[in-house]
Amino acid sequence: MSRQRAVLVTGANGEMGHGLINRFAERGDYRVVGLDLRPLDPKLHGLVETHVVGDILDARLLERMVSEFEIHTIFHLAALLSTRAEFSPEVAHDVNVQGTINLLRMATQQSKSHGERVKFLFPSSIATYGLPDLQTKLDHPRVTEEQFNLPTTMYGCNKLYCEHLGHYYSHHYKQLSVDEDKKGVDFRAIRFPGLISAFTVPHGGTSDFAPEMIHAAAQRRPYTCFVRADTRISFMAMPDAIDALIQLMDADRNALSSHVYNITAFAPTAGEVAEMTTRAFPGADISFEPDARRQAIVDTWPNDVDDTRARNDWRFSPHYDFAMTFHDYLIPHIKARYRQ
Ligand code: SER
Repeated sequence: MSRQRAVLVTGANGEMGHGLINRFAERGDYRVVGLDLRPLDPKLHGLVETHVVGDILDARLLERMVSEFEIHTIFHLAALLSTRAEFSPEVAHDVNVQGTINLLRMATQQSKSHGERVKFLFPSSIATYGLPDLQTKLDHPRVTEEQFNLPTTMYGCNKLYCEHLGHYYSHHYKQLSVDEDKKGVDFRAIRFPGLISAFTVPHGGTSDFAPEMIHAAAQRRPYTCFVRADTRISFMAMPDAIDALIQLMDADRNALSSHVYNITAFAPTAGEVAEMTTRAFPGADISFEPDARRQAIVDTWPNDVDDTRARNDWRFSPHYDFAMTFHDYLIPHIKARYRQ
């Protein structure tokens, strides 16, 4: 009995899962299998071939999935984000690291079983950086992939380590076994900045202040921002993040000089996000009351990143700058969403 070729999307109900599943449905050329702890969001019904409710820590469940589907590409999006992970670091480690190992193992077995290296797309993060203090952050406004890899959060540690695991499973898995045929996975990671979607609000992240502020203003709710107005990190509109994942999936392996790529679109301060939000939604009630602990996390993340490698290797080029993100993407879609 032949199995159906499919793309697996873990964390299907999450912010990126929504964007990616919608994009695949528009393209219509891939059969998508969703996996999430919860039943599929009704908004995604009809857009996937099938949806599996289950835990990435359940190895048997993953085995059952591959008995039915021939997985050739995995978008492993499921994770506990940086703020949430600090409340239960060991649980975060289980989900973020052991969950990733389970999927890397599945990808390796699938590669062997159908003879094609499974592409493994992994969203990493600006949380993999750990700048020691604000002066260093100011002195290094655009960090490269190799600089300051000393994260201070469990989530950042998990993401950085999983990048290394991806490299290991791609090139060195069971390197001492004589009978290994070296058909590893084809691991490709993007270090994403904070993401802003018009359709969903993130949960449990530390870059959430920007999307929370915008969605609150659109609903005429007051918002108290948990970082200082002068806090600067990079952000990107969700459609550009999804485009980047698809572009990296489609890139020729021979053109890729690395497993890990920074990308960025714009890097405003929280105050500039508030100003733009107020212009977009006049009367927005935004105040600043920094939470020292969450502030300390964001202060270790770079002002911005150097994404030359992604631009050179797979022609990354975001469509939306800061102003366009508001005018062409957020305002029209968010207004329509909250009018309903
Ligand atoms: N958006 C993530 C977070 O805030 C960072 O990748 O945790």
